[in-house]
Amino acid sequence: MTNTIHAPVMLNEVLQQANIKDKDIVVDCTFGAGGYSKAFLNHAKCTVYAIDRDPQAIDRSKELQNTYKENFKILEGCFGDIKQLLLEQGIDRVDVIVLDLGVSSPQIDQAERGFSFKKDGPLDMRMSSSGISAKDIVNKYSHGEIAHIIKNYGEEKMAGKIASRILKFRQEKEIETTKELADIVRSVVFSKNSKIDPATRTFQGLRIAVNDELGEVERCLESTLELLNSGGRLVVVSFHSLEDRIVKNFIKKNSQQESVNRHLPITEEKKLSLKVGNKKFIKCTEQEYELNPRSRSAKLRMATKI
Ligand SMILES: C[S@@+](CC[C@H](N)C(=O)[O-])C[C@H]1O[C@@H](n2cnc3c(N)ncnc32)[C@H](O)[C@@H]1O
Repeated sequence: MTNTIHAPVMLNEVLQQANIKDKDIVVDCTFGAGGYSKAFLNHAKCTVYAIDRDPQAIDRSKELQNTYKENFKILEGCFGDIKQLLLEQGIDRVDVIVLDLGVSSPQIDQAERGFSFKKDGPLDMRMSSSGISAKDIVNKYSHGEIAHIIKNYGEEKMAGKIASRILKFRQEKEIETTKELADIVRSVVFSKNSKIDPATRTFQGLRIAVNDELGEVERCLESTLELLNSGGRLVVVSFHSLEDRIVKNFIKKNSQQESVNRHLPITEEKKLSLKVGNKKFIKCTEQEYELNPRSRSAKLRMATKI
């Protein structure tokens, strides 16, 4: 097993926006390799509840659990169930909720987790190592279902053709490895930009479907309205437009009055729950991008509970 370290993305900006103070209760919804949780605990005398659905991430949290016995607790599960996970700990109000979406470097870099088209491994992509895998989807789903996933979650224009080629291949044998799938996609899609592998979008689409990534974000965000204390901060770092759109629309819906017709005055005042941070969103600095190219697509959005 390759043991890669995950460099936390936009850590300084997250710390600034989360504005953690002594006695705050903080939820790190995506523990990963613990970069954020560790920084929160070092920054103030706060209590951190960290969530992750990946058993390997739970194992990685042991060191932090030993160092911060009283102030750190790891919760194994999905952040879509944040309310339930916290209730089980007797917590129904918190001060800060942070999400750093997507996969961690250890997940993507271990061929055996099956996320990467760069390394050959079993076609898996399950963050939690349970439930439906990418192999199940490509071998069992219909042409329409596979095309839908690749088109809508991968934003891939050639989705129909890729789905057809997948179905043709599986008549001969099951698709079992990341290389087999990547080669199928590469036989259909030709990338103009040599830096971007033609399999990138298909792999993104499958990963999102396998882990219900968009549904998880929606469920978690809805719960934050109930969980955050007045003045509480929500900080979200996302890496692609599908996730970011959900975050942007959620913040907009809960921070702006709506008028049915924008030329008419607002008829009924809606009770707003959130106030948007100073900037609409924040991007990483040039220096960070130089050091960690993964940060290039990161977008940070922040809102405060009213
Ligand atoms: C980008 S990494 C987080 C890295 C972390 N901020 C750090 O500094 O090390 C995302 C982590 O979130 C976890 N994750 C993604 N979706 C999740 C979900 N719906 N519920 C719980 N954990 C999830 C993944 O397993 C992964 O470990």
